[in-house]
Amino acid sequence: MPYTLRWGIMGAGWISSCFVKDILLDPSTRDVDDVAHKVTGVGSRDAKKAQEWIDKYITGDAHGEAKAYGSYEELANASDVDAIYIGTPHTHHYDCVVASINAGKHVLVEKPATSNLAEWEALVQIAKEKNVFLMEAMWTRFLPVTKAMKEVIASGELGELRVLHADLSGNFDINTIPKTHRILDPMLGGGGLLDLGPYPLIWAILALYEDPRNEKRHPTRITGNMIKTKLTGVDSSTVFVLDFEHLEAQAILSCGITISSPDNALIMRFSNGNIIVPRPIYRPDSFKVQKLAKEGSNDVAEEKEYEFKSKLVGGGWHFQADEVARCVRDGKTESDLWGLDKTSFEMKIFDEVRRQGGYVLPPGVEKVVA
Ligand SMILES: NC(=O)c1ccc[n+]([C@@H]2O[C@H](COP(=O)([O-])OP(=O)(O)OC[C@H]3O[C@@H](n4cnc5c(N)ncnc54)[C@H](OP(=O)(O)O)[C@@H]3O)[C@@H](O)[C@H]2O)c1
Repeated sequence: MPYTLRWGIMGAGWISSCFVKDILLDPSTRDVDDVAHKVTGVGSRDAKKAQEWIDKYITGDAHGEAKAYGSYEELANASDVDAIYIGTPHTHHYDCVVASINAGKHVLVEKPATSNLAEWEALVQIAKEKNVFLMEAMWTRFLPVTKAMKEVIASGELGELRVLHADLSGNFDINTIPKTHRILDPMLGGGGLLDLGPYPLIWAILALYEDPRNEKRHPTRITGNMIKTKLTGVDSSTVFVLDFEHLEAQAILSCGITISSPDNALIMRFSNGNIIVPRPIYRPDSFKVQKLAKEGSNDVAEEKEYEFKSKLVGGGWHFQADEVARCVRDGKTESDLWGLDKTSFEMKIFDEVRRQGGYVLPPGVEKVVA
């Protein structure tokens, strides 16, 4: 029998619906037979909305298993919930995680995990005290395509990574959406960096931070530039560069909310080859591996394409849920693949880029400050 994790969903919004649709798929469609998922509760600031959301997104036999709650606290305290998935806007994550952990629940919290590093470090401390599992929902790290790319990098066949370019941008029609939309509203941590920045960064973490030669060192230099929209002052375009001088490697990362990413939105340039990944880099469908005729040359001696689209059933958000279920089943308090240290790394970089870019969140938004 598979181990079944009982989920509570906090925030009846868009990304929560993606997550729930995926975890309620039959796990055998992704060749998983050791874990399974149930949704036993949905918490919203409005009980009627929670029930309507359940009626819309949870169908069949699963529909009757999910109870609607009219506050996040009630959901956190539900006795038939093991783990809580938090799909509220970034600046609400801290309070949602605190409520969940204090009720003894394991937590999967959407990216970015918090508004800043100080909030994240406080959450890590509380999770340790309560001995519960905590993870940021960096779903991209758990995709089969990512696993395959990691194997190519780790094999060493392409030599050493010298430069990584990654972009995630999208046109959010910022001149027509309300200024209270979470992508524009500073109260909700709006702007490109906090919303889209985790995706270019995850590839730098995978290829550079995780490199065994790096020994978990942070970049020796972080450089960040932001362009802010006159509409609300949040960043509409951000570029940040991470220098890993000890590896003689750099990551050049960008994100924005007014234009789309280029076709090949992720390129990793190694001494003996390249990995080329089409957009969108949060869930690539394929990637290309080029081997060079000789180190540092332009001549491609060999090229191989890896394709994943035809194998994916669902949106891809279920692989991270399988990881949470396995960790909880095994009594682990963090994931080996996306551990607490990686989110610390991420939040430290975002703090520094916001500092250099002059993006200050409104007073009171950050619940913990350094
Ligand atoms: N992993 C991914 O692929 C992915 C994609 C998109 C977004 N995200 C992340 O998921 C989070 C939510 O994004 P979303 O696009 O799903 O947002 P959304 O639909 O705008 O909001 C999600 C829910 O948050 C709750 N909420 C609590 N306080 C709120 C407030 N002051 N204003 C608005 N809503 C509030 C609402 O639920 P109730 O009304 O039910 O309380 C709302 O439906 C963000 O942190 C984002 O970065 C992740």
